[in-house]
Amino acid sequence: MKKNIGTKLCLYPMPVAIIGSVVKNKINYALAAHFGIVSHHHILVSLAKNHYSNMGIRENKALTINLIDEDMLIAANQTGFVSGKDQDKSNMFTYRLGETGLPIIDKAPLTIECSVIDIYEIDGFDNFICEIKAVYVEDKYLTNNQIDYQKFKPVLFEFPTYQYLLTGKVLGKCISFKK
Ligand SMILES: Cc1cc2nc3c(=O)[nH]c(=O)nc-3n(C[C@H](O)[C@H](O)[C@H](O)COP(=O)(O)O)c2cc1C
Repeated sequence: MKKNIGTKLCLYPMPVAIIGSVVKNKINYALAAHFGIVSHHHILVSLAKNHYSNMGIRENKALTINLIDEDMLIAANQTGFVSGKDQDKSNMFTYRLGETGLPIIDKAPLTIECSVIDIYEIDGFDNFICEIKAVYVEDKYLTNNQIDYQKFKPVLFEFPTYQYLLTGKVLGKCISFKK
């Protein structure tokens, strides 16, 4: 029997990523796990309004989503506990700038460079609707030019117990389950 546990957020695990932004002409980073796929070309990134990043994202209308692997976890985690309001995070990672002038973190295995085309505000959150401009992936994670999630294991996050996880085993292609 299923038990009603209330109106809890439970759409987990979700990938966790470092959001790169430029605030007051300086690179800033924040950690996020609240994403949404809203079309084949658009992603939603949900950031609390009081975050320092939001100011720069609103101004430049751009951000990067840097997925992380286990090797990056400690440094990535730090970006989620310190605000750019209080500490300069611009030197935490080496990076190059993408076409939108936003940081593509060298160590991140996969970076999505986005322009922000809209903001949906609700409950104290800026939900940035992002158009995918480019996706940069480490060669070693590609098979036939496609991201191979058997090789690339992005770190995931779940809210109820605040734990990080890795992706698990492959069960098969969806077409193979078709009757
Ligand atoms: C695992 C983890 C996931 C997080 N996910 C989000 C998120 O999805 N949205 C959000 O607004 N804040 C999230 N945060 C909190 C921000 O990353 C954090 O408040 C950060 O310091 C904001 O930085 P800024 O003020 O420099 O923008 C998360 C923090 C952690 C540790």
